[in-house]
Formats: sequence, C-alpha cells, structure tokens
Amino acid sequence: KAAEKGGWPSFMAKEISEEPEAVANTVLGRTRDGQVVIPELEGLDDLFRGISRIVIVGAGTAAYSAFVGKYAIEQWARIPVEVELAHEFRYRSPLVGPDVLVVSISQSGETMDTLMAVKEATRLGAKTLSICNTQGATIPRESDAVVYLHAGPEVAVASTKAFVAQITGLYLFALHLGRVRGTVPAEVQAESIDELNTLPEKIRWILENEQEHIEQLAHWMADTRSVLFLGRHVGYPIALEGALKLKEISYIHAEGFAAGELKHGPIALVEPGLPVFVVVPSPSGAPELHSKVVSNIQEIRARGARVIAIAEAGDAAVLPFADEVLRIPLAEPLFEPILAVVPLHIFAMGLANAKGLDVDQPRNLAKSVTVE
Ligand code: AGP
Repeated sequence: KAAEKGGWPSFMAKEISEEPEAVANTVLGRTRDGQVVIPELEGLDDLFRGISRIVIVGAGTAAYSAFVGKYAIEQWARIPVEVELAHEFRYRSPLVGPDVLVVSISQSGETMDTLMAVKEATRLGAKTLSICNTQGATIPRESDAVVYLHAGPEVAVASTKAFVAQITGLYLFALHLGRVRGTVPAEVQAESIDELNTLPEKIRWILENEQEHIEQLAHWMADTRSVLFLGRHVGYPIALEGALKLKEISYIHAEGFAAGELKHGPIALVEPGLPVFVVVPSPSGAPELHSKVVSNIQEIRARGARVIAIAEAGDAAVLPFADEVLRIPLAEPLFEPILAVVPLHIFAMGLANAKGLDVDQPRNLAKSVTVE
C-alpha cells in the first residue's frame, strides 16, 4: 500500500497532486488543427446534428461535474441540457426518446444508479454516451458510445482527480459537439484549446503556492461544526462539491448553496463566526457576476460570517470583506471551476487529517456504489 501511494501519506493526497496530469491526459490526442476532435466520436456527426436535447445523468461528485458541463454545452453547442441525478431519472417516467442523447458520467463506470438510468434511457429509445474513467466498465459497455477520461486509477473514496477530468471531458465533448453543429467560431475553439492546455500549469501553481496555507487554515478550523459554501453560475456546482467533500471525509456538517439563493432562506443560518467559503468569479471575465458575489459576501459578513474567498490572484475587491483569500490563477470564466475546486479538495483533506481521520476510507462509504 505504502509503495502504491508513491510516498504520499494517503491516496487522496497523491490523487490531488495528480490533478494537473488528469486534465492534461484527458485532453491529449483530442485536438487537431486548432479544433477539438474526439476520435471515439467520429462517425456520430449525424446523430449530434439530429438531437434536440441532452440529458446528463450521474450521482454525487459526477453529477456536479455535469452541472458545469451543462453550461459549457449550452454555451458552445447551443443545445438544451438537463442534468438529473441518475436515481431520480430512473423512477419518474422521463420524457426522452430518439431525439435525446443521454450522457452518463461516472468515474467507476459501475455505479448502479447511473447504470440503471442508462438502461432506462436505452429502453425509451434514446441514444446513450458514457463519459467514464474506468476502461471496460459496465456503463460504457451498456452505452452506444464512450469517451474515456484518462485520469488514471482513483483509489481514495473521495473523488478528486476524476472530478477535474470529468469537467475536462465535458468541455471537450461540448467543443466537439459545437464544431459538428457549427455553433463554435474557429477562434473560440482555438482559444478554448489554449485554455485547456494551460489549466494543468495553473493547477500546479495552486498546489505549489496555496496548499500549505490551505492546510494550515484547515488545521485552525479542526473544531468547526458547520461550514457553508456559496457560488454562482459555474461556481455553484463547485460550492456543492466543496460541501460534499467536507461531509464525506471530515464528517462536518456542510451545505453548498447558489449565492443568489441566500436571501431566500439560507442566510438565516448565518451567525457570528460561521465559516463560509465563497467561490468568487473573475472580476475581468465575469464582472456582473463578480459584483453580485461581492455583495453576497458583504451581506454575510455584516451578519458575522467568517468569509473564506476563493478568488483570482489580483482580485483586490474581495480583500476588505474576506477573512481569508485562497488565490487561484486567472482563467476564462467557464474554465474557472477546475481551478476553484482545487483549494476545496485540499481543504477537505487537510481538515480530515487535522481530525486524525482516515481520508481514504471514510466511514459508511464505498468507492463505487454498486447497489441501488
Ligand atoms: C465522490 O467524492 C463520492 N465518493 C461520490 O459522490 C461519487 O462521485 C458517486 O458515488 C459517483 O461515482 P462514480 O463517478 O463512480 O459513478
């Protein structure tokens, strides 16, 4: 086991350190002459031009990556996308048929809830595409097409490098679809590929420059009973992911909310000293969203929350209102989730370590949930 961990104290630590490679390996071999071309999907152009809707199904962390995928596919391929938890999709007579593509997303490819959703989609006449990290797993075998992620084996129960690979796979799929459907200008394809190629370096920057700071913060917060996570737009699924990871491995009550939803209820939870992580959009890339999130920060700060902002290096506007700022490099807004999640993965692991818990094998959980 120690040898398999390659010198890291846990599989989770090793797998977080592999997040840059997980992104790079997923992109590898999927671009050609400034365009995204996924070789496994060549030959499916007519199908992609003919569909009227996409439904993405998955569970847990995989479903959060799907929410990011929805934004990317709708922006680049201009096709409506719904995201549905696989176990909900299966039992509600979903309205899907031959004009719908059901995309499943799964690290293991063995999650029973997701497998049953895929089978249901097939029974209803929909076409199915699996985005999966595990070669030859059951879900890809049951699907019409498959795009493998190349994150490498993930051992820790808490999914980390597979999550960034899943989002990467969904960006690639969105750009492939957009190219086939003629909805992405060539320069957007080219710029997006450049961005995808720089993400590994940017993740590495976070690991090198922020990891220690985040682990220290986690150490100071070892007695925390409850934590909130807020985000908007593509930052919203990242807030959900940050909360799930903390629950899973540090057994701390955590909730993720869309920041705009605060005033509709959750703000009642805010009391002096409550730690709230806020995913802050780029001030230059998404100025409107940025100013909205800054006012959300002011609202919770005024009620005594302890604000931990995940913000672009150089974002000075958050400084007066945040107790802590975790820095991430600049990226185009759609790509920011891949960077913003890294500090949250490190934080969850740091807090579990500070509490002396087994980060790789949390209680009550299995790596792959093969029962319904
Ligand atoms: C993630 O940290 C979880 N352990 C869990 O939510 C997981 O993502 C979910 O069970 C889906 O697994 P899959 O990607 O293998 O289908």
